[in-house]
Amino acid sequence: MPKPRILIQLDPDSHASVFDAVVAVDAGVEHLLQYHSVQPDQVRDLVHGAMFTRSPQDLASTAIFIGGSNVAQGEELLRRATKCFFGPMRVSVLLDANGANTTAAAAVLAAAKHVDLKGATATILAGTGPVGQRAARLLARQGAHVRLASRSLQKGEEACNSVRSRIPEANLQAVMTSSPSDTAAAVAGAQIVIAAGAAGIQLLSADVLKTATTLKVAIDLNAVPPLGIEGIEVMDKAKEHSGVICYGAIGVGGNKMKIHRAAIERLFTRNDLVLDAEEVFALGQGLQ
Ligand SMILES: NC(=O)c1ccc[n+]([C@@H]2O[C@H](COP(=O)([O-])OP(=O)(O)OC[C@H]3O[C@@H](n4cnc5c(N)ncnc54)[C@H](OP(=O)(O)O)[C@@H]3O)[C@@H](O)[C@H]2O)c1
Repeated sequence: MPKPRILIQLDPDSHASVFDAVVAVDAGVEHLLQYHSVQPDQVRDLVHGAMFTRSPQDLASTAIFIGGSNVAQGEELLRRATKCFFGPMRVSVLLDANGANTTAAAAVLAAAKHVDLKGATATILAGTGPVGQRAARLLARQGAHVRLASRSLQKGEEACNSVRSRIPEANLQAVMTSSPSDTAAAVAGAQIVIAAGAAGIQLLSADVLKTATTLKVAIDLNAVPPLGIEGIEVMDKAKEHSGVICYGAIGVGGNKMKIHRAAIERLFTRNDLVLDAEEVFALGQGLQ
């Protein structure tokens, strides 16, 4: 008889995320053990508690979810957790700090429905945040030419270098967008634009959008007015506006939630999975 499914939620924030807890329960987790304010040097003992309590054949019924609002902290917790494992003594782990992996996967999958990503040009506005950087990483892996836009060229270069450290062959370029004419240049010739800016910040006006005649898909991840792309509604899901297929944040969010739940379910299929951006994207591809 399979052991009850236990998910151990490791969260560096002062309160473990309620959102992540609800998704875990909806994904069939039977026991959720929540740890908040988790520091990197505490991970080893927490993970040992997960991996040394059940026999190896039962370890697929124990898994770890790493969340929280800070992706860099989440990445460090993931690194510490995976260092604890050896031989069959391991449990599966999902990283989705700030929802970055599931959101970026859902956005890139939405684009892929309408444009062949290989060889496409994709502009990520405000691509320096955790969601934007992961979208850049996923698009680059799929062979797209990525323009990663930022108000600061240096910040954009740093984000590009971070992607290149994982994908040396990535075809990506930092572009500065500190004025509407910069933004027009950043989207000129692109087939895909993803607005990944902070909540409540408009990045692309309707006037500039009109100049982007090569665009096929426009995706806005900001759900808080003013929205990131003027003219796209938050609920838009593959809705055409002036010849461009548009997605708003909630239009993308439905698939993001599906991917998040499926990723939790996948954790319990074996005990050796490490689900980060690419693995979450691949899982999302399988759901389309
Ligand atoms: N739909 C969903 O399910 C879902 C899930 C998670 C997140 N989200 C949304 O996805 C978006 C991206 O999330 P995130 O956490 O990666 O974003 P973030 O880190 O808060 O911000 C991303 C980038 O926005 C730019 N920015 C910040 N303030 C700005 C301002 N005043 N003017 C212009 N640009 C500004 C910055 O880029 P530069 O400084 O480089 O210009 C920043 O790096 C957010 O809108 C978030 O709410 C949606």
